[in-house]
Amino acid sequence: MRLQNKTAVVTGAASGIGRAAALRLAQEGARIYAVDIDETGLAGTAQPARDAILTRRCDVADEQQVRNAVADAMEQLGRIDILVNIAGIQITKLLRDTTWADFTRMMEINMGGAFLFCREVLPHMQAQKSGSVINLASELAFVGYPKLASYTATKGAMVAFTRSVALEAIRDGVRVNCVCPGATDTPIFWEGEADLARRKAMLDQVAAEKPNGRLITPEEVANGILFMASDESSAVVGASLIMDGGFTAM
Ligand SMILES: NC(=O)c1ccc[n+]([C@@H]2O[C@H](COP(=O)([O-])OP(=O)(O)OC[C@H]3O[C@@H](n4cnc5c(N)ncnc54)[C@H](O)[C@@H]3O)[C@@H](O)[C@H]2O)c1
Repeated sequence: MRLQNKTAVVTGAASGIGRAAALRLAQEGARIYAVDIDETGLAGTAQPARDAILTRRCDVADEQQVRNAVADAMEQLGRIDILVNIAGIQITKLLRDTTWADFTRMMEINMGGAFLFCREVLPHMQAQKSGSVINLASELAFVGYPKLASYTATKGAMVAFTRSVALEAIRDGVRVNCVCPGATDTPIFWEGEADLARRKAMLDQVAAEKPNGRLITPEEVANGILFMASDESSAVVGASLIMDGGFTAM
């Protein structure tokens, strides 16, 4: 097992990529502290691996809740070796229809959540002289997309933030990197769309516009997160692992 005796805090762990990452890291031997606002979803994540996965309700955009969650994780796990910042939302609107509240909510959760967790966890990792932080950005940090100007801004910010934090932390043996998925088969991608014809049209668009012709699976992204979390990526610092089926290669 690649993460024997390691511990990991995973945000956004109730669903999609966060759930897949929590389960994949647990499968490799890590003890997981799974964080989300969705307690029912968290229980579903922990269900197959109850001994390995602790759960906590925490809004990643709430400074005090993040402080409390990190303090509790340290108490329960003794140390934090891996931090995966995955919690995120996407509001899809033309710029002219995007409210200030839409913009700030996306910024607070997608970017602010990673800022708060990094700020609270890094001192512990730096004191122990080891650790790996993985921030979830997106292929859309590198290319534009209509109706997603604010969302893409949060992801571009995540890549820039990650580079700078990586340079602050590496001398203490702590690596900070991004994983940048393409369109992945999770609730964020489907945006609550229930109509089968519209879902089929979305898939047809993916088939036409993505070089690999399909959605990425959350398990594929979890494998990238595992690589960044493990010592196999020991030379990788401040980097972005793009997992997009070739979309940004075009
Ligand atoms: N699915 C995609 O196509 C795709 C592509 C690129 C990047 N991403 C990124 O991957 C990450 C995970 O998204 P996903 O695709 O698994 O979607 P998802 O909706 O399945 O998961 C997002 C999780 O974040 C949680 N969350 C939302 N707001 C929160 C808050 N304030 N505090 C704590 N938890 C909160 C949700 O409850 C949910 O469990 C996001 O950052 C997303 O932007 C997704």
